[in-house]
Amino acid sequence: MRTHRAGDLRPDHVGETVELCGWVASRRDHGGVLFLDLRDAAGVVQVVVDPDGVDGADAHGVRAEYCLRVTGTVRERPAGTVNPDLRTGAVEVAAGSLEVLNPSEPPPIPIGDRTDVDEVLRLRHRYLDLRGERLQRNLRLRATVNSAIRTAMEANGFVEVETPMLVASTPEGARDFVVPSRLTPGEFYALPQSPQLFKQLLMVGGLDRYYQIARCLRDEDLRADRQFEFMQLDAEMSFADGADVRAVIADAVSAAVERVTGAPVGEIPVLTHAEAMARFGSDKPDLRFGMELVDLGHVFATTDFRAFQADAVKGLRWEGQADLGRGRLDALIDRAKQLGAAGLVWVKVRDGGVLESPTVKFMSEAEQLGLLDATGGRPGDLLLVVAGERRMVDTVLGTVRNDLARPPVNEGGLRFCWVVDFPLFEAIADDGAPIPAHHPFTAPHPDDRALLERAHGEELLAVRSQAYDLVCNGWELGSGSVRIHDGALQARIFERIGIDAETAQARFGFLLDAFRYGAPPHAGFAFGIDRLVGILAGEENIREVIAFPKTQSGADPLTGAPTPVDDRHLRELGIQVRRRG
Ligand code: AMO
Repeated sequence: MRTHRAGDLRPDHVGETVELCGWVASRRDHGGVLFLDLRDAAGVVQVVVDPDGVDGADAHGVRAEYCLRVTGTVRERPAGTVNPDLRTGAVEVAAGSLEVLNPSEPPPIPIGDRTDVDEVLRLRHRYLDLRGERLQRNLRLRATVNSAIRTAMEANGFVEVETPMLVASTPEGARDFVVPSRLTPGEFYALPQSPQLFKQLLMVGGLDRYYQIARCLRDEDLRADRQFEFMQLDAEMSFADGADVRAVIADAVSAAVERVTGAPVGEIPVLTHAEAMARFGSDKPDLRFGMELVDLGHVFATTDFRAFQADAVKGLRWEGQADLGRGRLDALIDRAKQLGAAGLVWVKVRDGGVLESPTVKFMSEAEQLGLLDATGGRPGDLLLVVAGERRMVDTVLGTVRNDLARPPVNEGGLRFCWVVDFPLFEAIADDGAPIPAHHPFTAPHPDDRALLERAHGEELLAVRSQAYDLVCNGWELGSGSVRIHDGALQARIFERIGIDAETAQARFGFLLDAFRYGAPPHAGFAFGIDRLVGILAGEENIREVIAFPKTQSGADPLTGAPTPVDDRHLRELGIQVRRRG
């Protein structure tokens, strides 16, 4: 139906007769002559219509978002009217004929301009929202990322295998979405939170290197970086350790980044979890900026200042902020308290290294000098200090560091890092059982096997695992681990986390059974494609890189999902619904 795409026209085309198809992005009536911006998948071009000189449709009747076919001649724009903001801005098309392929009702949302438009209204008309440049660019970028990932994984010998959507519960720790079974009323399938167990079975099955761009579903509260449905690059490797897995994942990520930005990622630094917490107060350190946490334990080791007689005393230097007003300082203190600290001490560095703070009088001269020396504080800087239990101190200062200095997603380039040697357990439950930080198939760190056997209660939190995360600009992109392939060790882990043999068999028996038949050592990883694309697109919310996302409250205003099911269908499923209210 067309010879060219509107957005592709350039000065090279001047003099050519072209046929274009697209939508009316805007329409300006300049005393008889009509200027239409015609939009298609490649962009926008200006079409000049002289209503008296054009064949076909009545040009005056054409409105925004009408779908048109235009035949015309490409010409240079008159001097002074070139639009440098538009890729086609040096040319225009003088229309010879105009055909309305389909009229449009007035669009309920402005297209392309996202400001001040209600989210629900936008999502209800997502097909119109998609016509805008931003979503067009993001979805195309997403396709580029997927394609680069596939090519890279295949080049590394990975085979793409699809795993089922109707499964038994998977162990990622979120709530399952469930699907009732008609043939066995009262029973349910779970939708997979990840292909985790299947990919491990594929290793037992000798597939050796598996990957999949897999849809995962988790019923959890939605946030900027979380949707119910999301896509993972999911991978698993036999006869491989964590470093092998990280190398192939780095290849795939780098290939995607290079296809989008033109530059590969380069060597990705590796931090241990302990180091990330100590230096950045976060297991997702944002390396785009400094402001690292400084240990002040040695400075205040023998202090008389009660507040600093603690397990840990650490600080941050906020450069050039010594003139921060009382209100902002109080807000920082409140924030630290809200995060679990007993308080936060601020110290202003004045000329000559003189310290100014209500707490300076409690510090000896040596402590004041030590504080300056350790933090590198210079006149004009503000120092923030928190004392208390070490994990709390790190987390509070890490959060404050992000609050104060974290750049927006599209600034400061891409700074990746691996965080390795995660703790095996993230917390101790009320019943005393440790809660796995990853999933229960994660292998403990070989150096911590003895500790795992003898530790109790809080001591267990010191046991490291062979789990690792990939982080970019402070976002957790993905996680993986070396798996347990030894049945006895797996049974021991279940026992330690309070899953008895019977429950383990009932939930994961098929995997445990499979492991009895010569399961190979294996390791794997999965990263969130939505998150990677979000970062590459410079979007704070992954909704902007998903064609049909859900709202914050989990609804789809376009299709109306979730919806009630009719009674006949429910009866067939053996389900009786207790209506709310
Ligand atoms: P994990 O649960 O850490 O690991 O998930 C891996 C990555 O998936 C992405 N992700 C999400 N993205 C958008 N919305 C969500 N609700 C969401 N939840 C997770 C994140 C996350 O880092 N089976 C293991 C991996 C393995 O061990 O191989 C797993 O799923 O980017």
